[in-house]
Amino acid sequence: MTGAPVHILALARALGAVLTKKLRVGVIFGGRSGEHAVSLRSAASIMAALDPERYEVVPIGISQEGQWVRTHLPASGSSLEAVGQKLLVLPAPGHPPYLLDRLEPISLDVVFPVVHGTFGEDGTLQGLLELAGIPYVGPGVLASAVGMDKEVMKRLFVQAGLPVLPFVKVMRYQWEQSPPTVIARVESEIGYPCFTKPANLGSSVGVSRVTHRRALERGLMDAARYDRKVLVELAAPDAREVECSVLGNDYPEASVVGEIISSREFYDYAAKYLDGTSQLIIPAGLPAPVTREVRQLAIKAFWAIEACGMARVDFFVGRKDHRVWLNEINTIPGFTSISMYPKLWEASGLPYPELLDRLIRLALERHADSGRRLTQYQPLPPGDGFF
Ligand SMILES: Nc1ncnc2c1ncn2[C@@H]1O[C@H](COP(=O)(O)OP(=O)(O)O)[C@@H](O)[C@H]1O
Ligand SMILES: [Mg+2]
Repeated sequence: MTGAPVHILALARALGAVLTKKLRVGVIFGGRSGEHAVSLRSAASIMAALDPERYEVVPIGISQEGQWVRTHLPASGSSLEAVGQKLLVLPAPGHPPYLLDRLEPISLDVVFPVVHGTFGEDGTLQGLLELAGIPYVGPGVLASAVGMDKEVMKRLFVQAGLPVLPFVKVMRYQWEQSPPTVIARVESEIGYPCFTKPANLGSSVGVSRVTHRRALERGLMDAARYDRKVLVELAAPDAREVECSVLGNDYPEASVVGEIISSREFYDYAAKYLDGTSQLIIPAGLPAPVTREVRQLAIKAFWAIEACGMARVDFFVGRKDHRVWLNEINTIPGFTSISMYPKLWEASGLPYPELLDRLIRLALERHADSGRRLTQYQPLPPGDGFF
């Protein structure tokens, strides 16, 4: 009998050990991002749903200014910095206490980063957690960074043969140097109606729908306030917006598909967060082959950026021709109990608390798998084939 490979036994032992005691889960929220407030709402739902029999939650806030604090969620409106105990962040791997609270180390078994947008969803926080040697929920550094940059993301989608709308990249310096050259390029390569958007942002901040030259100038100017790289993309013709949730590491699964009915002309910041009348329709009323196509494309998009853990993949679907366009992938999707990502899993038979269990388990598995890589040169023993 050959027995299970050593790494599987090691993983089983590690999981067994951590599952028999309460796991200390650091939930990180807030952050230096336009999506700070959304993050607080997502984190509140997650912390309320983590089973207290199995998890000890350690809430960790990051203020709008970037200060890490040990705090419970503040009442709305008050700044995290004002309510929390300041923390010093030290990426000390091995025996991870990596946060110091008055020089008292806080040890964590796993982190759930619930920080949307810049300095949280873009690979920077994931890089810190890698340096600290702490397992964390969601995609790693590469997929997080790529998933945040709509232009690099779309280049990878194109390379993977996935359907994206025509787009051009405009660097801020190009726009500032010669607006007429940029306008001419957009008009010849894309045309109207189109969307202008900052390459690295979310929540529709800085996104405009433009139908003529003056509006294009204004849209470019607005998007360039938020990023040095701007994307101009052809508007999906007469399309609905649908989303699909993906969960898993090496063998990701796709959820049922949901539709967004925006309360405004497009799904802008106000439609997402302010007016409260946009609707989520789950499952989306689509013909079965279209649903199948969306779910397959969601997995392919997940692979294209080499994601792991979770991601929500967003699409446009033509109202009449049912043509499917991939819009974007979000690596830390909204996580309030009424957000699309968990709602789609609930409709697929995975309730919110169990979804959190799965995500934490996937984080531990992924960490154990990454830990198998050699970090020192070690030549193979002489011979051919397996050993
Ligand atoms: N090419 C497009 N065609 C149609 N609508 C679009 C297009 N690009 C963006 N939108 C609209 O703008 C919203 C926000 O754009 P998106 O690229 O998803 O950025 P964000 O990361 O801010 O969500 C989308 O949900 C959609 O309503
Ligand atoms: Mg979007």
